[in-house]
Amino acid sequence: MKFYTLKNDTKLPAIGLGTWKSDPGKVGEAVIEAIKAGYRHIDCAAVYGNEAEIGEALKTAFAQGLVKREDLWVTSKLWNNAHESDKVIPALQKTLTDLQLDYLDLYLIHWPVAFKADVDFPSKADEFLSLEEVPIIETWKKMEEAHENGLVRSIGVSNFSIEKLKDLLVDANLQPEVNQVELHPLLQQDDLLEFCDNNSIILTGYSPLGSGDRSQRLKKEDEPNMLENEVVTKIAKNHDCTPAQVLIAWHISRGTAVIPKSTNPKRIKENIESYEVELTDKELAELKTLDEHYRYVDGKFFEMEGSPYHNIYDE
Ligand code: A2P
Repeated sequence: MKFYTLKNDTKLPAIGLGTWKSDPGKVGEAVIEAIKAGYRHIDCAAVYGNEAEIGEALKTAFAQGLVKREDLWVTSKLWNNAHESDKVIPALQKTLTDLQLDYLDLYLIHWPVAFKADVDFPSKADEFLSLEEVPIIETWKKMEEAHENGLVRSIGVSNFSIEKLKDLLVDANLQPEVNQVELHPLLQQDDLLEFCDNNSIILTGYSPLGSGDRSQRLKKEDEPNMLENEVVTKIAKNHDCTPAQVLIAWHISRGTAVIPKSTNPKRIKENIESYEVELTDKELAELKTLDEHYRYVDGKFFEMEGSPYHNIYDE
């Protein structure tokens, strides 16, 4: 296993289990299988709607001695409807209750986007709150408070551009440890990686396999399938491994963490075994050529007419 040491000296396991889109009824078993297969990093979020089932699985895993709490890294994320100052700690407490934990290893602001408190997902523009109404720094101060209170060991952000990170770095008392963003050979984000490296922020990549199981509503027609990409499949043959393992190993070679989602025991095991795949410089150079700044998660769902959010990735 490989770990990344954060500024606060905690150690983030490089490969974690993603749980976005893991259905209720399946996610608990997936977590148990992952822990048995050697995962020590589970990535969660309130909005995934499955934290209570994950909490039951964690309780079972601890009770059965599959892993000790202190040896497992659990991340969760603050949903967009809880950015207001008085909402942050209660939202975190709900997540802790659901996960049946006393503390999180990492808590992230899920998006630099805010909704009104009773809105899960806006269906009209006036259900958003702008960042002028609820500045990120106000939310961040509460994240810092959660850290001070021992509810979370580390704090960070998700889906933040360099510009938004810069603003936060100026104002924050406690610097973000992690930025979780979409990352894969079609969206390499070298500038963001360099900025994060220079500021000792670990990048974690989501949708590393292209998130083919997103609902149709979130998909574009003719999306590229990275698992069938010619370069990826050729490199997989070189190593007698699978295309998914090449895509996961690519992260490890760049020093980014990665959270492939699976609820299938065989693929869960396959994905963590990517640690064994060492890509050569030539293969990395071939993968480099695939970069086309292609986003599977383009954020357009925040940009309905009248919404205060446009160009959320600042590009
Ligand atoms: P499943 O859960 O049935 O294994 P991402 O991590 O980019 O969000 O991608 C998740 C999608 O990739 C899911 O459809 C998941 O299906 C599938 N997947 C996960 N691991 C593998 C693998 N090793 N090979 C092929 N598909 C995989």
